[in-house]
Amino acid sequence: MARKPFIAGNWKMNMTVESGKKLIEELKPLVKDANCTVALCVPAILIPEMTKAAAGSNISIGAENVHFAASGAYTGEISAAMLKDYGVKFVIIGHSERRQYFGETDETVNKRTLTALENGLTPIVCVGETLSQRENGETEKVLDTQLETGLKGVEDATKLIIAYEPVWAIGTGKTATDEQAQETIAYIRKKIGQLFCPKCAEKVIIQYGGSMNAANCKGLMAQPDIDGGLIGGASLKLDFATIVNYDK
Ligand code: PGA
Repeated sequence: MARKPFIAGNWKMNMTVESGKKLIEELKPLVKDANCTVALCVPAILIPEMTKAAAGSNISIGAENVHFAASGAYTGEISAAMLKDYGVKFVIIGHSERRQYFGETDETVNKRTLTALENGLTPIVCVGETLSQRENGETEKVLDTQLETGLKGVEDATKLIIAYEPVWAIGTGKTATDEQAQETIAYIRKKIGQLFCPKCAEKVIIQYGGSMNAANCKGLMAQPDIDGGLIGGASLKLDFATIVNYDK
């Protein structure tokens, strides 16, 4: 069964209303015939204006995080209801930068993931090992824990997207080789099969992320288990359109 590829941008803490709108206006005609799902996950404060800019196009505007509580005393956080107010469908959860700088753990990833799913949002759950973990041969063990804990209590794994993002490849210009990315994503798929069901494993969309760009996207996307990309740096420029059109 064919999985529809999914290319998502992650703007991180970049862009302003003006530069974001300009980029979306330029991207719209370039990505309109894409054969994949296209999304740009943007800083929460830009969601309203970027949603307006993308209206009528095939670009979905997503978020970069969501809090697990419905509401309450969580200064600086954004709830699922707030995202839904603006028609957000996709939300990145557990990005390695959240884990590294903002105390995100597999437990909070799990809570956010469950909240997103309960609210009909599609979480893009990020997993991935650091360089030392890879060098120590711990990649599979790290992924096991991230998936077992992060996805605990999820009823239907096909309702989420997984982004495999080796931490050592993010923003470093060091992409995983096609073979490394394929091998690890195939492992993640197998693990989803064990945690959920073989059919779920076949259906779940798994993206690669980490220095994916206009030059290396074709090779990565040609791998049988890689269903898309989560694109940081290259989503801030027109290269994003080249990646979306990787099959043309
Ligand atoms: P990068 O970021 O493409 O700039 O490496 C990817 C990500 O962090 O999602």
